[in-house]
Amino acid sequence: MTRPVIPVIAVDGPSGVGKGMATRWLASRTGWHRLDSGALYRILALAATHAAVPLDQADAVAALAGGLDIRFVGETEADEAILVDGQDWTHEIRAEETGNLASKIATASVVRDALMQRQRDFRTAPGLIADGRDMGTIVFPDAVLKVFLDASAEARAERRYRQLSKKGASVKLTDLFAEVRARDERDRKRAVAPLAAAPDAVIIDTTQMGVPEVLTEIEALLKSRQLVD
Ligand code: C5P
Repeated sequence: MTRPVIPVIAVDGPSGVGKGMATRWLASRTGWHRLDSGALYRILALAATHAAVPLDQADAVAALAGGLDIRFVGETEADEAILVDGQDWTHEIRAEETGNLASKIATASVVRDALMQRQRDFRTAPGLIADGRDMGTIVFPDAVLKVFLDASAEARAERRYRQLSKKGASVKLTDLFAEVRARDERDRKRAVAPLAAAPDAVIIDTTQMGVPEVLTEIEALLKSRQLVD
């Protein structure tokens, strides 16, 4: 008897588009596990920085991947904790600067290969909600549902600005916009696993949408694929 394949829902899209919100909602709606693949790139970039490994030495950066003990704790953004080798890196991992470092190491295929199996290991019963840039194209091409969330760079920078301001951070909208643009450029134009919608992905442009509308659309997709009752 062949074992049933553990289903994956892939959610890809550029930074700041709301994948975290959508995938957390999907995980609670389905009861499936969640993979935050961006966090793995962020952790590896930080680990390299801590070990004084230059980020452009891709082989040396990739070599660090296997030795890291990574634990994700909590299910909501508020109670999230990311422990690396027993230490709490949550705050550092979520910093804007760490996202930029992550997108630099993510351009190297040796780094992406080093994280591949680690990402696939999250595929455990009853199912997986995978959040990233290449979930539907490279890591889980057999996903039962692929969603590509998109929004203009302006809308994403504004959302991030509101989020950070609410948390009391002092940031400039113009700086955030420039960072979003730079990260987009790197993620979309890199030679390996560039950010792109899979041909069989459902693209949702959220530029003019609020959170409830996005979730209503995703719920309709779940129902149409008979992934929930
Ligand atoms: O999603 P997040 O902003 O945490 O990702 C940080 C960076 O890691 C992205 O800008 C991207 O360059 C890289 N990344 C990637 N592939 C993934 C997830 C993230 O290249 N699946």
